[in-house]
Amino acid sequence: MGGNGSRAEAVAAADGLLDDWGGPGGGAAGLGGDVLVDGFGRRQRDLRLSLTDRCSLRCSYCLPQGRVAWLVADRLLRREELVRLTAVAVSLGIERVRLTGGEPLARPDVVEIVAALAGLKPRPELALTTNGLALERLAGRLAAAGLGRVNVSLDSTDPEHYRAITGRDRLDRVLAGLDAALAAGLSPVKLNAVLLRGVNEADAPELLDFAVARGLELRFIEQMPFAAARDWSRATMVTASDILARLGRDHRLTPLVGRGPAPAARAGRSTAARPWSGSSRPSANPSANAVNDCA
Ligand SMILES: C[S@@+](CC[C@H](N)C(=O)[O-])C[C@H]1O[C@@H](n2cnc3c(N)ncnc32)[C@H](O)[C@@H]1O
Ligand code: SF4
Repeated sequence: MGGNGSRAEAVAAADGLLDDWGGPGGGAAGLGGDVLVDGFGRRQRDLRLSLTDRCSLRCSYCLPQGRVAWLVADRLLRREELVRLTAVAVSLGIERVRLTGGEPLARPDVVEIVAALAGLKPRPELALTTNGLALERLAGRLAAAGLGRVNVSLDSTDPEHYRAITGRDRLDRVLAGLDAALAAGLSPVKLNAVLLRGVNEADAPELLDFAVARGLELRFIEQMPFAAARDWSRATMVTASDILARLGRDHRLTPLVGRGPAPAARAGRSTAARPWSGSSRPSANPSANAVNDCA
């Protein structure tokens, strides 16, 4: 939302919904037939809120290097506007809200936003996708405010590879953030990883071992050709098949079923590995939704 359309447009859209359906808690909204349905006839239960376009990392597949022309503050939804919009969505059957960005923890009032969203009725499940740099400082406060789960983006446990991808030497902070998230009781804590040919494509097994050792869920996301993504080509991208083949050398992979009807899932756009409790055997889902964690 931060990057598309103006704040005024988003707020006007929310107000229009309020007019049409009577507002959150104000009638049949979300209780009967008035639910959000997409063009494929699927009922929508998930909402993603982009809190900011800003980020202190420069992942090569996401942002251009150097100076970025960030949105001026006036283009971002204010906290009360985010909450109003979410209230409307909840009244229309949205059950899960994921905060993303940009880097959502770069938003100064992120804890207050979480607390306000946790106060909605019915209360949505609250999740957040982050680069993890500020989690050591914020995980406890976010959990206390009502955050349930967190996805941390980590493409490599090799400091050089991490720096090559993100442009910054911050691996230690991400690792400290993961510890803080676990200590704060956020659950599940998941890892998102994008593999790049010639950079970290060989790091999948280490990432999996790292995740298994800490009880984290790991998902590999195929690189998508975002506008800022440099060097993307269908011919050289690391595909789900590549990752499954590499992991399959050392691990037995079992397809997961029943992960929902999203078109990206059917297209097999990404893989997910979920460590089995008490075992180093992962199961791999060749059809998880790669789009789910993007802003
Ligand atoms: C856009 S980031 C926003 C949240 C936060 N800054 C983070 O990195 O987790 C959300 C997710 O999108 C992924 N992502 C970004 N650009 C991508 C691309 N071109 N292809 C696939 N995934 C991408 C990131 O790896 C991250 O897991
Ligand atoms: S993927 Fe996340 S951490 Fe990396 S540059 Fe994009 S917004 Fe920042």
